[in-house]
Amino acid sequence: MNCFHYQQDQLYAEEVSLTDIAKQFGTPCYVYSKSQLIQNWQRFNDAFTNHPHRICYAVKANSNIAILNLFAKLQSGFDIVSLGELERVLAAGGDPSKIVFSGVGKKAAEIVRALEVGINCFNVESAAELERLNAIGAEYKKIVPIGLRINPNIDARTHPYIATGLHENKFGIDYTEGLAIVDKIQTLPHLKLVGIGSHIGSQLTELSPFIEAIDRLLELVDQLLLAGVPLHHLNIGGGLGVCYQNETPPSIQEYATTLSQKLAACPLEIILEPGRAIVANAGILLTSVEYLKHTEHKNFAIVDTAMNDLLRPALYEAWHEITPVKPDKKLPEKMYDIVGPVCESADFLGKNRLLGVLPGDLLAIHSTGAYGFSMSSNYNSRPRVAEVMVDKNQVHLIRKRETIADLFLHEQLI
Ligand code: LLP
Repeated sequence: MNCFHYQQDQLYAEEVSLTDIAKQFGTPCYVYSKSQLIQNWQRFNDAFTNHPHRICYAVKANSNIAILNLFAKLQSGFDIVSLGELERVLAAGGDPSKIVFSGVGKKAAEIVRALEVGINCFNVESAAELERLNAIGAEYKKIVPIGLRINPNIDARTHPYIATGLHENKFGIDYTEGLAIVDKIQTLPHLKLVGIGSHIGSQLTELSPFIEAIDRLLELVDQLLLAGVPLHHLNIGGGLGVCYQNETPPSIQEYATTLSQKLAACPLEIILEPGRAIVANAGILLTSVEYLKHTEHKNFAIVDTAMNDLLRPALYEAWHEITPVKPDKKLPEKMYDIVGPVCESADFLGKNRLLGVLPGDLLAIHSTGAYGFSMSSNYNSRPRVAEVMVDKNQVHLIRKRETIADLFLHEQLI
């Protein structure tokens, strides 16, 4: 059964009605299903059982420490991109030796801390970063484990803002420069090359770009192994898409089975960095309708959540399904734009949705477990919302709603 399902004419998260959650915790509120989170993580893991592998969950997708802790208990690794994400993983009980550190702009202090706690490797994105890592290794008398993030120049066929594997993107080292960079690494005594990888983008709905990227990587791996470079892992990144509207991405099983077959002969450990496909459909954003505004031209359902809580529709024109928590079949349906209170016309959660609603009704914005809360902000001085995790018939608060005082806690008068 889907973790979010209708039962007795209203929407439930596992065994708890969303109406009850709204009563207890207020709205807006992110609601996650523990069983769905675990199931999605395990699907990736199970599909790779025949090959030495590690799932390094991409923390940026949802970085709540209760969620990280769930994955840490499953022995997950983590893909991080900042000191903040590193400290979150550690606070959540994650094993530092299973952390990979990606990102084009690692600062010295971030590198020093990651080295101190003993992460698995730094995914290096430029020649300049190699120099910095080597210098820090020398200063701290440590050998720095590195993976090369290769830019394979492959079109991931996704939204341009989340495509990362083309020449025009800032990410990774051009695949044609791979061998030269490896030669350079041999001259830097405080670096140890342990892996090679790529991440070509997010919300990919086809398998072929993943396969093309892996082909590029395998060419390089073969050349390096032949040259006697002792590689340990191949990192195939994240990026598997989910169905928000009518996309038909491969299932986790299809993705993992196809890729693990493709990699069957590869002697290296496989690292995966999935984010969205693990958490997206395990979360919804619960909101209340404040006002209805019917005009000659358009109808608006004005809700209490906004682009600061869920940025995806405003930033990528992303589509999320929006359904009433307690549908009332007697209400006439009307076409609505579902909008928030923020003073921007980009502040919409959904456009042209056929709904029968009244002020005070609850709506669920679906598949918002990934890049929902983690991209939220305080824009318009709106406190960030509460997050809860449902575990069968229990509901746990995993992040308190921010207070108004929190908003200017770090500010001062002069
Ligand atoms: N690894 C690296 C190096 C990444 O940059 C990313 C995502 C991932 C793994 C995880 O990708 P996933 O499996 O989640 O697709 N805010 C955008 C998505 C940005 C993705 C950034 N990188 C959105 O809301 O669609």
